[in-house]
Amino acid sequence: MKKTPLVVANWKMHPGSSSAAKSLMRETAKALARTRGVDVAVAPPSVFLGELQPLIAGKKLRLAAQNVFYEKLGAYTGEVSVPMLKSVGAALAIVGHSERRALGETDELVNKKARAVIAGGLAAIACVGESKRDARGDYLSFVEKQLRAACAGVSAQALGKLVIAYEPIWAIGTGTNATPHDAHEMKLFIQRILTDTYGRAGAAKVRILYGGSVTAKNAGELMQDGAVDGFLVGGASLRAAEFASICRSAASS
Ligand code: 13P
Repeated sequence: MKKTPLVVANWKMHPGSSSAAKSLMRETAKALARTRGVDVAVAPPSVFLGELQPLIAGKKLRLAAQNVFYEKLGAYTGEVSVPMLKSVGAALAIVGHSERRALGETDELVNKKARAVIAGGLAAIACVGESKRDARGDYLSFVEKQLRAACAGVSAQALGKLVIAYEPIWAIGTGTNATPHDAHEMKLFIQRILTDTYGRAGAAKVRILYGGSVTAKNAGELMQDGAVDGFLVGGASLRAAEFASICRSAASS
């Protein structure tokens, strides 16, 4: 059965102020007003979540966090917990983005975060992706290791709350997206590993997104020929009209 696609806007550390974040959210909601057939979430910097929450009331849009900590409360200076994110409207949380891994986040930490997000009732978007491709296919074992680590201890019953985002680092912010063929190969590979662990019915619940230089121009073929279940969009999500066009491409494929 075909899954409803999911497109997530990862605003990263943009825009630079609360008022600019509200404007971008209003523009995004307006641009998406008539779009159907796709689940859409926006991941702003956490500090803006609470004030963006009223702007999505009554709309199909959902809010996501870009990062989260795995404990609920305590002496963890600078961290934000799942219940805190939930209380300001987040329904999903990204874990293990490569930009956080580059700051020292390990597979083990990513797994703790994924499990805490799911246990707290939010959906976890776990990111995996290699930094470079090699002719021997080592990138496949690299992604497999990240994926198995991220899912460790996640039960089959919880899979409806798990999303995998394949984001090859070489494609992030570079203007060079993975080809639809590359994206498709990796989607099938990820699906096979999930099937290994959870069986076919379990694996079928997990949406597998692609991220890395997704634009209005390449979204259609990445959906159709790449057969991914949606996108995690960085740069292009800061342009409301382009982001909406990417969501429509996902909806119509
Ligand atoms: P870009 O779309 O800017 O390449 O970023 C992708 C990304 O990292 C989304 O999480």
